[in-house]
Amino acid sequence: MNDNSFSLDTLDRIVAETFIGQIDYNQELSSTNNRGLELAREQSEIPIATLVLTERQTAGRGRGKNRWWSGEGGLAFSVLVNCGALKLPTSCWPKISLTTGLAVCDAIEKTIEVGDAKLKWPNDVYLSGCKACGILVEAPDSRRARVVIGIGINVNNTTALAPLELRGHAISLSDIAQQKIEPTEVLIQVLQQLAERLTSLARGTQDLRRDWHTRCLLTGQLVEIDLDTRHLIGVCHGIDDNGALVLETEFGIERCLSGTVSDFTS
Ligand code: BTN
Repeated sequence: MNDNSFSLDTLDRIVAETFIGQIDYNQELSSTNNRGLELAREQSEIPIATLVLTERQTAGRGRGKNRWWSGEGGLAFSVLVNCGALKLPTSCWPKISLTTGLAVCDAIEKTIEVGDAKLKWPNDVYLSGCKACGILVEAPDSRRARVVIGIGINVNNTTALAPLELRGHAISLSDIAQQKIEPTEVLIQVLQQLAERLTSLARGTQDLRRDWHTRCLLTGQLVEIDLDTRHLIGVCHGIDDNGALVLETEFGIERCLSGTVSDFTS
């Protein structure tokens, strides 16, 4: 077994302790999100949640045209969610990625002592000022009521071996804890927190703005954001109830529902 492999007992434990009803386990995949989307299109009946798990991801995808570097020891997985069974209408979907970010922060803080886990809008998880996790939410099409939540967490992949452009910007849980972290514990925690948060989102009981308030890395900072046709600069006031990033620019308040934060300074 290599460091990234999961035993049959572990897979059984994941099903017993989380909302996962089925696991699609692969030694190697180009991208767990690609596989999740494939299952979402092909399978006529799916459980509430299917876990796509791999030991090695060879072409992980990030938001936009970005790639995701995992490296040996990185945890890469996707959860195919049956939104019909979870009663998550399409109106909730834009909030799924922000909700997932909160779940990952809660899970990491429960697994290791890291200080505060922060969120860089929309859903990058930061520890000690560096990125530790990326999230990519995709849907095959809205008629199918299925969503794939892809999560990449730097667990034991020491970022000293990361591509040059990532060094100093990325960090792993083991970099922080200074010891090897058990990936199964991280995975089970994330799945448990995700189930809890998605259920609150479906019931309308989650206060996204409040929960983000303490985690938002950008609040109070001068932020630059690239939108489709515009570039905005402004002081960040957190997010609103719809999950939009609120910026106070020299022309007034702007609410950004999508976009890429290109820079931020305090
Ligand atoms: C980002 O930071 O831009 C998002 C990165 C998301 C990476 C994860 S790893 C598991 C899943 N499979 C992928 O191809 N991407 C996501």
